[in-house]
Amino acid sequence: MAHPKMAQVKDGPAAPLEMSATEFRALGHDLVERIADFLERIPHRPAAPHMAPSQARARLGQGGLPETGAEPGDLLARAAELVFEGCRINGHPRSWGYVIGSPAPIGMLGDFLASAVNPNLASWGSAPVASEIEAQSVRWIADLLGYPDDCGGLLTSGGNMANFIGLLAARRAHADWDIRSQGLAPAAGRLRIYASRETHTWLEKGTEIIGLGTDAIRWIATGTDLRMDTGDLRARIAADRAAGEKPFLVVGSAGTVSTGAVDPLPELAAIARENDLWFHVDGCYGAPAIVAPDAPADLQGLREADSLAVDAHKWLFVPLEAGCALVRDRQGLRDTFSFRPPYYHYGQGDEDLVHYHEYGPQNSRGFRALKVWLALNSAGRAGYTKMISDNLRLSRRMYEALGADPEIETATQNLSIATFRYVPKDYNPAEDGEYLNALNMTLLSRLQAGGETYLSNAVIEGRFYLRACITNFRTREADVRALPEIVARVGREVEREMNGNR
Ligand SMILES: Cc1ncc(COP(=O)(O)O)c(C=O)c1O
Repeated sequence: MAHPKMAQVKDGPAAPLEMSATEFRALGHDLVERIADFLERIPHRPAAPHMAPSQARARLGQGGLPETGAEPGDLLARAAELVFEGCRINGHPRSWGYVIGSPAPIGMLGDFLASAVNPNLASWGSAPVASEIEAQSVRWIADLLGYPDDCGGLLTSGGNMANFIGLLAARRAHADWDIRSQGLAPAAGRLRIYASRETHTWLEKGTEIIGLGTDAIRWIATGTDLRMDTGDLRARIAADRAAGEKPFLVVGSAGTVSTGAVDPLPELAAIARENDLWFHVDGCYGAPAIVAPDAPADLQGLREADSLAVDAHKWLFVPLEAGCALVRDRQGLRDTFSFRPPYYHYGQGDEDLVHYHEYGPQNSRGFRALKVWLALNSAGRAGYTKMISDNLRLSRRMYEALGADPEIETATQNLSIATFRYVPKDYNPAEDGEYLNALNMTLLSRLQAGGETYLSNAVIEGRFYLRACITNFRTREADVRALPEIVARVGREVEREMNGNR
């Protein structure tokens, strides 16, 4: 209903981007129809387009910025066609390449609604209910994982950003000078971080961005199971202390990006506690697996973390972009980022309200919380337990099926990630690792271009393996059972072509 004092005044032609309600309704319905058709046909489409860069550019046309605007209906139809045909379909039942969730349709609708209202979640006052929806989503994610739900936290663009926030909170808490005002005092050169070699590259990027530099990282050895070697960790901390360095942070992975290995998190928590260090867990991929009754027991250690990064756009099945940073000490998180500028009006009694610009690096922030909140509400704890447990079970089934194929050598299976490679029947893998590496690299490219499935790779001890990660609620038993035949068939094809080069 229009506010009585706000009579609509028409004063000339509509702005170029204005759209009447009638036109919006018609275009919106048409687009929803197109998207629904796309979703329905996903299983019958290739998992990824086979498109050279020149073809992708040719589809767009390489002209300059249009001088005059195009008709919105034609434009939307063209855009839909371009993106349906030109992008890997992460929600395809056989799309197992990267750690990315099949996106929940309710999240897609949430994004649409969020951008229609377009609240800015910088300060509470500019988006009251939206800010509360974000606060509730953060509490619910913490609750789902068994992390204290009175922690500080916020939604981020993704896992890297959520991890950076943990890194910054740790650094502020452990620098024994006022790092926010004094910056990198000489003592910063002695701050040391402990993480395994299997850690995702957010850590290198993060140390670089915050000025510590990658040399601040002590790379801790892993065992043959690719989990952090806690003996090496203890020894490196002790050696650094003895040399006058300043250890401040232990980073554990709740599911590494390559193979899904879960570090011995309870032991890492104990070591961090004994040494008075901050304990950060990168749970971007694997933290949600804690809801599954048969998940690795070591995941429980994430509940002891001082900070935890989780990715809603991975195993919580929310469309990109949505990560989540959780920090046990809520005030500590706020103290890491808070400024109170005069241009935001803070009312009296505002103290318990969350002004999100005070909790992270962003100022203006979109309403990504809505899609997260809708997905959490829509599936509930039971829904997530089922979807994630199914993914864990299907990955184990996939691994068994791959292992039963005489032309496939399996390597690792952790959480929902399996690694394996094609080995020709008459081939002794000890003969020449390089040939097998080259064969499997070509095989991977061939599989990715073929569209029957989408896989990626992991390199373990110099060996190039294929990698399938199931964070996908559309994958079924028949999909995973189909994989060995696809890999062996395309593997034989590549081997025939390469055989001369053995
Ligand atoms: C373990 C882990 N940490 C961090 C990230 C980075 O997350 P994002 O790509 O959302 O920034 C990933 C991405 O795959 C990951 O698997």
